Amino acid sequence: MPDVTSKLKLVRDEVIACQKCSLYQTRQNPVVGTGNHHAKIMFVGEAPGAQEDKTAHPFCGASGKFLDELLNHAGVRREDVYIANLLKCRPPGNRDPEFQEIETCTGYLQRQITAINPSALCSLGRHSMSYLMQKLGLGDKLKSISQIHGQVFVAREWLPGIKFIPFYHPAVAVYNSGMKEALKKDFEVLKKLDLVL
Ligand code: URA
Repeated sequence: MPDVTSKLKLVRDEVIACQKCSLYQTRQNPVVGTGNHHAKIMFVGEAPGAQEDKTAHPFCGASGKFLDELLNHAGVRREDVYIANLLKCRPPGNRDPEFQEIETCTGYLQRQITAINPSALCSLGRHSMSYLMQKLGLGDKLKSISQIHGQVFVAREWLPGIKFIPFYHPAVAVYNSGMKEALKKDFEVLKKLDLVL
């Protein structure tokens, strides 16, 4: 049985060579994911932005800076979590992920999640929320992110029992400082999950 790191390395090698959709033609680098291979908390963002495309690291631009602040606020160290995205390649001009791109790409994300096997899975943004809630058998609880952000759900399918928490995307606070406090308050839920990091 390959260990977690070998499984993640295999995903990384496949993503680097991936040409399954047209995004590989316009990307500079795929952004596979980074963090602790034994993380109890895993975050799933939407897709790389310009800075991530340049560096191959998730959340290293303006949203990443705010994500660091949120983690700090919740008393969680970035090196203890794993961060990946729904899409591994940057959609041109940072447009929203398309349905077909999500369908094509998320096999990689599924393998990352099952390899790491976190206790809590947190989406950052509405596309990753919608994808993961359906995958986890929580489709009937899916509402607009403004209605369910920060709530803790328990998965019924695929990874039954895993906790799922939808968060707003940190970028919303970059452009709307009023959202900063809402996001900080939501992240406090991580302190209450009783996860051994
Ligand atoms: N936004 C995302 O959703 N993911 C990143 O990696 C960076 C910005």
